[in-house]
Amino acid sequence: MSVLEQKKIILGICGSIAAYKTAHLTRLLVKAQAEVKILMTPAAQQFITPLTLSTLAKNPVLSSVQSEEGWNNHVELGLWADAMVIAPITATTLAKLAHGICDNIITAVYLSARCPVFFAPAMDVDMWLHPATQSNVNLLQYYGNHLIPVGYGELASGLIGEGRMAEPEVIVQQLNEFFQQKYQFEGKKILVTAGPTYEAIDPVRFIGNRSSGKMGVYLAEALAARGAMVELILGPSPLQVQHPNIKLTRIEGAEQMFQAAISLFPNVDAAIMAAAVADYRPKFVSAQKIKKANHEMTIELERTPDIAAALGKIKTEHQVLIGFALETNNELENAQSKLMRKNFDMIVLNSLQDEGAGFHVDTNKITLIYKNGETKAFELKSKKIVALDIIQALHLLMNEKK
Ligand code: CTP
Repeated sequence: MSVLEQKKIILGICGSIAAYKTAHLTRLLVKAQAEVKILMTPAAQQFITPLTLSTLAKNPVLSSVQSEEGWNNHVELGLWADAMVIAPITATTLAKLAHGICDNIITAVYLSARCPVFFAPAMDVDMWLHPATQSNVNLLQYYGNHLIPVGYGELASGLIGEGRMAEPEVIVQQLNEFFQQKYQFEGKKILVTAGPTYEAIDPVRFIGNRSSGKMGVYLAEALAARGAMVELILGPSPLQVQHPNIKLTRIEGAEQMFQAAISLFPNVDAAIMAAAVADYRPKFVSAQKIKKANHEMTIELERTPDIAAALGKIKTEHQVLIGFALETNNELENAQSKLMRKNFDMIVLNSLQDEGAGFHVDTNKITLIYKNGETKAFELKSKKIVALDIIQALHLLMNEKK
């Protein structure tokens, strides 16, 4: 069965010579049993006729917010679709979408759409490479839209370079992969610990750490977006989490995190331990605010439970356990020994020596280390993309344990 079966796809076509390829694209989508509705800009109709496309799509083609039949409800269309594909998208439409300009049916539906949007640019090499175009492409991706990369080759102008619209097969392939990933973790329950812990000294003070909770929250969101039911145990972090698939348990100290994790772990398929848990807490917590005195002060500390190690002990052969190691020296060695000691299936190493990795930055540079000693190092990336790399590795590990 095709993952595109019964998927509702809006295909937006702009005025570029590459528009001729959309007849084939429409055929491929219909063959994959998607329901296709086509929108065209007036300029697109100079390159391919609405009659050709409506015949292939088996649906009327819309080219204006108003038509002979009346007003075309762009909001309804935007909400109807499971995905919107704008192919080809011209430099002009890229610029309009990047800046919220709404002056035709495609731009109106784009602004109303809640579904994922894919865009496949087509233009001459110099237009494509112009900083204005590149910055618009970046903006659109920043808004969460998906770029279908341009191809390299001969262009309509006779120039050779980047700027060809992706082939219809490539566009359909990207849609296929997107929908496959969307359901990647369906039916799976995953526990994520995230954020710092605060260990109380008195009602006012605590011992904490610099963790922002971002990495763990992005992991939870990425898993939820791919169909997992996520149990997120989050330490004190200003981050807000809102996703119907994420059940949030907010905790403060390591002991609370331990209790929550131990009770949730037996019912999950996997756990990712992204929290920066305090290893020590004050042995005695003062019920009143401690007043200053004229002598030095010592706070006696005791160990907190090692949550990850406790889960490692009760892990079944079908469960996957992933840990983190933030190191400042002897990174690989330290991470490898943690992996074995805590019975992880994989550990995510980040080194504070790498610029752009660590607390309160939006980027991270990780190395994945497996039980068999295999390692996989990644470039510096935004934490959201790093989360995708980690859950991809998790997915493979879960498949191995099935
Ligand atoms: N961890 C945990 N509970 C603890 C301490 C750590 O669950 N009390 C988890 C972290 O979430 C992380 C992994 O164990 O996934 C490694 O954490 P880290 O602090 O690097 O390891 P420690 O065992 O505390 O070692 P050290 O502080 O000596 O480096």
